[in-house]
Amino acid sequence: MRRDDVLRELGLAPVWRLRSRPLVTTVVPTGVAVAIDVDARRAHIATLDYEALVRDIAACTACTLCKTRNRSVPGVGVIGAHWMFIGEAPGADEDAQGEPFVGAAGRLLDNMLAALALDRSENVYIANVLKCRPPNNRAPDPAEAHACAPYLDRQIDLIKPVVIVALGKSAAGRLLDSDAPVSSLRNRIHRYRGTPLVVTYHPAYLLRTPADKSKAWEDLLFARRVMRESLAQQTSA
Ligand code: URA
Repeated sequence: MRRDDVLRELGLAPVWRLRSRPLVTTVVPTGVAVAIDVDARRAHIATLDYEALVRDIAACTACTLCKTRNRSVPGVGVIGAHWMFIGEAPGADEDAQGEPFVGAAGRLLDNMLAALALDRSENVYIANVLKCRPPNNRAPDPAEAHACAPYLDRQIDLIKPVVIVALGKSAAGRLLDSDAPVSSLRNRIHRYRGTPLVVTYHPAYLLRTPADKSKAWEDLLFARRVMRESLAQQTSA
């Protein structure tokens, strides 16, 4: 099969090669690295409905994590949920099951959600900055987060949350383009592409530092106030 045919089969064609357009290297199953047009890929992803997005993520080869993942982990929850929680990246349990936050940190997250009468099967959507597990649970590389960004942005566009909660420094850093610690980002209303965003601690951090659970609870109550105020503004507008 010719290279162009392989790319078309993988949904990566057409491949533009204008020098002025940003290109990114992707890895096709034959092991060949090819350059694809970043803007064209983002524009394509921005057109996908939810089912097509999940399929696209499962077939994604935009970074090397595709070589080591067992399953991609797009997200879980309700399309149209008012709440969207965003973590860092899948771990081993998530990579095995294809669902975010199913390990010990996920159980803590579920308990925190339950305290607010929230449930991933009823009124919440949960995703990660990265859709594939970094080997040995290392922190996401900025290039990986950049390659995955169009997927997260499309998820946000489809879910249309009233409030986004960034879980931990890595997710907050990616969404706010900041290197600041969680302690200096919490208790404030940020925005991500227009949507109110609140920062709190990552559940894995809370498992290691239970003394900060009360701060995370304060953050969730703050997020709920932000949510209620945003909804009130929407209905009065
Ligand atoms: N940590 C994350 O950030 N995301 C998961 O899905 C699991 C653990």
